[in-house]
Order: sequence, then C-alpha cells, then structure tokens
Amino acid sequence: MLTVTQAAEARKSIRKYTDAVIPEADLREIIRVASLAPSPWNIQPWRVIVVQDAETKLKLQEAAFGQPQVGGGSAVFVIYTDMTEALANLDEVIHPGFGEGAAGVKDQILGHFSSYTEEAKVQWGRAQGYTFMGYLLLAAQAHGYGTSPMLGFNPQAVRELFGLPEHAFLPALVSIGVPAEEGFPHHRHSVDALTRWV
Ligand SMILES: Cc1cc2nc3c(=O)[nH]c(=O)nc-3n(C[C@H](O)[C@H](O)[C@H](O)COP(=O)(O)O)c2cc1C
Repeated sequence: MLTVTQAAEARKSIRKYTDAVIPEADLREIIRVASLAPSPWNIQPWRVIVVQDAETKLKLQEAAFGQPQVGGGSAVFVIYTDMTEALANLDEVIHPGFGEGAAGVKDQILGHFSSYTEEAKVQWGRAQGYTFMGYLLLAAQAHGYGTSPMLGFNPQAVRELFGLPEHAFLPALVSIGVPAEEGFPHHRHSVDALTRWV
C-alpha cells in the first residue's frame, strides 16, 4: 500500500487498461477510504454508483462522448451529490458526540440552508463531491490501480441512465482498472508559482 505522498506522485490519468477485473472487495475498500473525506458539518452529500456491467459501461461511454477509458476499465465510479437527500437525512451524519446537542446542530444546518436557492445548494454539494473524488483517486492509486477522472460527459444522459433526479450533480465519472499505459509525466505549477506567503 502506498503512502499518500507516494500515491499522489504515482497517480496520473490512465486511459488504457488491461482486461483484469478488480475484486469487489477492493472497490468497496477504495470507496470506504474515500468516504473518510471531510465535509462541512459532516454532511457527506456524495453518493456513488459502481458500474461493472459491460453493457451499462458501453451506454455510459456513449454518454461520455465515446471516451474509450469508460468502457475499457474494470469499473466506472459515477460520483454524484444529492443535497436534497443529504439535508433530509441529517440525523445519519450528525456526530453522536453532540449527544443532546444534536437537535441544535440540525437546526443550525437547516437554518443555514434555508436562505439558499436550490441551485446554490447544488453548487455547495458539488464542491464537496470534488473532495470525495480526490480521496477516491488517491485511494485507488494506493491499491495499485489506475484511474481516469472525467468531466467530458452529458450529465443529463447519465442521470437518465441511472434514474438520478434532476437536482443530482455529477462532479465526475472515474474509470478504474489495471493500467496498460504509464500516463503523462506530471506537468504542474511550481510551489512558488501557485503560492503567496503572507
Ligand atoms: C474533474 C476532472 C475532469 C476531467 N475530465 C477529463 C475527461 O473528460 N477526459 C480526459 O481524458 N481527461 C479528463 N481529465 C484528466 C485531466 O486532463 C488530467 O487530470 C490533467 O491533465 C492532469 O494529468 P494527470 O491526471 O495525468 O496528472 C479530467 C480531470 C479532472 C480532475
């Protein structure tokens, strides 16, 4: 298993995979690790559909403008965020450590979102979805798998394929498999270029 630094160094977008099938236990563990990502108030609005079925992967590939890494991987994670569901089930996420204070926390959260438009809620959830995605990519890499995050897809077509509600936001599709290519070397801003020290 790689450390976080090793996984970040090794991770590159992989668009070609071998035919190897990833055991479901590994996929579950990768999702479990990703679920440790933090979110404000611990709301965790992320959800994921794991697509392993070959026919469904091809339909998903069509919705992703034919990107071959969709059908070519062992599985595809369809990450989405659902703030309506998340806010309707706050009891599941408020930490038991709050004890009798839990009701107050729930009121605080619902009060906060009461001034949000539906679109603002979607955008708020969307940001949390990307934290989840980042954890997922590193967790997959730590297990020795390659991934390809993708925004190149038609979200409405993907919603229809899986019967997702209109308000579900899709931060990314992430294909996963055993790499059959190395990917491009990292090409990143230097620390100095992206940082301002005050
Ligand atoms: C949210 C997100 C969406 C992306 N969408 C696509 C995509 O649709 N197709 C694709 O080939 N690569 C996609 N990429 C991959 C990026 O191009 C890639 O991460 C970037 O060039 C850096 O390369 P690396 O991932 O190999 O380090 C996406 C990456 C992210 C994080």
